[in-house]
Amino acid sequence: MKILHIDHIGIAVDRLDRACPFYTDILGLSVLEVEHVQDQKANVAFLPITDSELELLETTELDGPIGKFIKSRGEGIQHIAFRVENIEESLAELKEKGVRLIDEKPRPGAGGAKIAFIHPKESHGVLVELCQR
Ligand code: CO
Repeated sequence: MKILHIDHIGIAVDRLDRACPFYTDILGLSVLEVEHVQDQKANVAFLPITDSELELLETTELDGPIGKFIKSRGEGIQHIAFRVENIEESLAELKEKGVRLIDEKPRPGAGGAKIAFIHPKESHGVLVELCQR
């Protein structure tokens, strides 16, 4: 499989309206857009940095993945996403190598991307997302 670059870093926050000002007013980044991602039960703010971006994720339902993450670990980095050339091929290769996957098939992610998560036990505690745009 071929990882092209870090597509984004997902950061779980309590509230976008409280988290965004640090990244915009203090760090000087810009919010490109905010999208509701139903599959993640989250509102996602995109803050590009050259060919990567930060994604600030605010849960819209307490039992969603972001809500659960914040409840057990507090705000912070929730996942890292690698952009791959071909997500289906990447998943097939990982499966063949016996890597535990959360998603065996790609699902729709933010910004129209195809995404899939690798089980965090495989990647030593980091939730890794593969992403094809
Ligand atoms: Co992501």
